[in-house]
Amino acid sequence: MKLIIDDANPDTIKGLYEYFPVDGVTTNPTILAKEGKNPYEVLMAIREFIGPDAELHVQVVGKNADLIYEEAHMIRKRLGNNTFIKVPVTREGLKAIKVLKKNGFPVTATAIYTHMQAFLAGKAGADYAAPYVNRINNLGVDGIREAKEIHDIFRNNNMATEVLAASFKNSQQALELAKHGVGAATISPDVIEGLVAIDAVTHAVDVFIRDFESFCGKGTNMLNV
Ligand code: G3P
Repeated sequence: MKLIIDDANPDTIKGLYEYFPVDGVTTNPTILAKEGKNPYEVLMAIREFIGPDAELHVQVVGKNADLIYEEAHMIRKRLGNNTFIKVPVTREGLKAIKVLKKNGFPVTATAIYTHMQAFLAGKAGADYAAPYVNRINNLGVDGIREAKEIHDIFRNNNMATEVLAASFKNSQQALELAKHGVGAATISPDVIEGLVAIDAVTHAVDVFIRDFESFCGKGTNMLNV
């Protein structure tokens, strides 16, 4: 399962890249608006840092297929060919996805709440389909189960589309999807940090250091004993 950062702050992204095995960055209009700068300024800083070959996912805002198509061209022109165009799976969005795929764009179908949206996005040729796990949970439906079932729909229909699960509240949810082998999960920085913020691990490491230092002396390690 690819692990992708769902954020648009270049400093936060740099920090996570330093410590975690991450595979790219997703953004959405809400995340970009939080940065308080021109969206392309922010996105170009991210692209420059992650490099031309890394996955960067950028969402369109237009409500009709023609405008979405024009936005996609501008996004590709400014951010490079390996920029996934995130298109919400509405009626117009599906039309846009079909046209974008015919023209060689990488596409992430987004704002997915139902199996049917995902199935149609797969049929339209989307590379990724992004179910919103936590937002689905908030509708009283099990978002994790839905993401797994969407993965199964793609495999059972021989579609190449991968699940790019989004909207996580905790690291346990991401792990559940890794066990099922879904293609990717995009996770906010605080939830990524939560993947290793385990009190028992911190305690175990502290005890190792304490025992070592009590025998070899304060400040010692395998370099200076
Ligand atoms: O891009 C969609 C995803 O980021 C939504 O996450 O946490 O706003 O539900 P959230």
